Amino acid sequence: MGTPVYFSQVTGPVKLLIDRLFSLKNSDFTSKLKPGKRIVLASTQGVPDESIYEDYLESTGKILGGVGFDDYQVLKVAAIHNIGDINNNQQALKKARKVGQWLVNG
Ligand SMILES: Cc1cc2nc3c(=O)[nH]c(=O)nc-3n(C[C@H](O)[C@H](O)[C@H](O)COP(=O)(O)O)c2cc1C
Repeated sequence: MGTPVYFSQVTGPVKLLIDRLFSLKNSDFTSKLKPGKRIVLASTQGVPDESIYEDYLESTGKILGGVGFDDYQVLKVAAIHNIGDINNNQQALKKARKVGQWLVNG
């Protein structure tokens, strides 16, 4: 799941999607997901300090975990203002590749 940070939060459409993940729950609150599913919350932000939304994004990641995903990771990339900015951040691209491998190899 990917989102830019808008006004210190996930965007409205992503919040709607998260709310609808409730449908992955059975009426007894067990999950419909098969065991072993992983999810990544990937976010971009304009503010250069990567730690500033750490708590918020981690708690959002935990919510995704609570739907029945066995594990989650948060991928944060800061100082993104325009399309292509990420190409100037080799560290972020390396991290994204690593997280992507974690996601598909789980
Ligand atoms: C309406 C709006 C609100 C934003 N709010 C924040 C914010 O609170 N903190 C931040 O770091 N960046 C903020 N940004 C910057 C975006 O998170 C960042 O540029 C992102 O990469 C934009 O992705 P997009 O091109 O898909 O909209 C905001 C951008 C917009 C358009």
